[in-house]
Amino acid sequence: MKLMDGKAIAKQLREELAVEVTEMVAQGHRPPHLAVILVGNNAASETYVNAKVKACKDIGFESSLIQFPPEITQEMLLHAIDDLNENEDLDGFIVQLPLPNHIDDKTVIERILPSKDVDGFHPINVGKMSLGLDCFISATPGGIVELLKRYKIETEGKHCVVLGRSNIVGGPMAMLMRRNTYPGNCTVTVAHSRTKNLKEICLQADILVAAIGKPEFVTADMVKEGAVVVDVGINRVDDATRERGYRLTGDVDFKGVAEKCSYITPVPGGVGPMTIAYLLNNTMIAARKRK
Ligand code: GUN
Repeated sequence: MKLMDGKAIAKQLREELAVEVTEMVAQGHRPPHLAVILVGNNAASETYVNAKVKACKDIGFESSLIQFPPEITQEMLLHAIDDLNENEDLDGFIVQLPLPNHIDDKTVIERILPSKDVDGFHPINVGKMSLGLDCFISATPGGIVELLKRYKIETEGKHCVVLGRSNIVGGPMAMLMRRNTYPGNCTVTVAHSRTKNLKEICLQADILVAAIGKPEFVTADMVKEGAVVVDVGINRVDDATRERGYRLTGDVDFKGVAEKCSYITPVPGGVGPMTIAYLLNNTMIAARKRK
């Protein structure tokens, strides 16, 4: 088994972007600028958002963190998005999900200008991706595809099983893996909570992407010998032996599965860092278009 080291590859990607920022600034342009909107105080969201802001700083991007209390009205949030859409000092922005229940995600996402939607969540970007047109590809699937590419994982003609059908990961991941390009050209199955014979389907996977949000759901008996396993899960599991009271675990039972597969991503240090690096990559793409 070989580890797909997302932490190391993300570092490579960030270093490449940092070089580009230096060149951009030397040519008299301002650095790329990403804004992040965080509503409320979901602990996991706060961690992710802080990591995104820090990642910007580390490679010379500008970043703005815009925080709102959980009781902000949808109308006020939409106004804030309008302001960011019009702000010429900004290349892209994201609204961290999930949002409080009284705010409708779809309405919020549709308000973001597609050219600034570096999360790639707007229906225009999703639609363009499904047609293979130039667009922002959402950061988690984009990061996974980049990881497969940098590890030169063969994908053509392979059976890729995507566990999970969310708009953020499973849906776009399936679209990317069936594209007529590399990485892609897979036969793709999307399995989810209502799928029957889940184990049999997983056992057919040459490439298995687990994005189902259940700790250690994928066990060794569900994985074909030699499969490539990508673990998207970041689950907090109570652990009294840890100072913070929890540990992070993926959707895959790493120990058991690692013995059977050819490649696997660890949690942490696999898909997570790639997601952040790919968001920076998208922000750079937005900034290049602005010049
Ligand atoms: N919540 C979990 N993942 C993401 C992401 O990639 N972008 C945003 N905006 N929210 C998220």
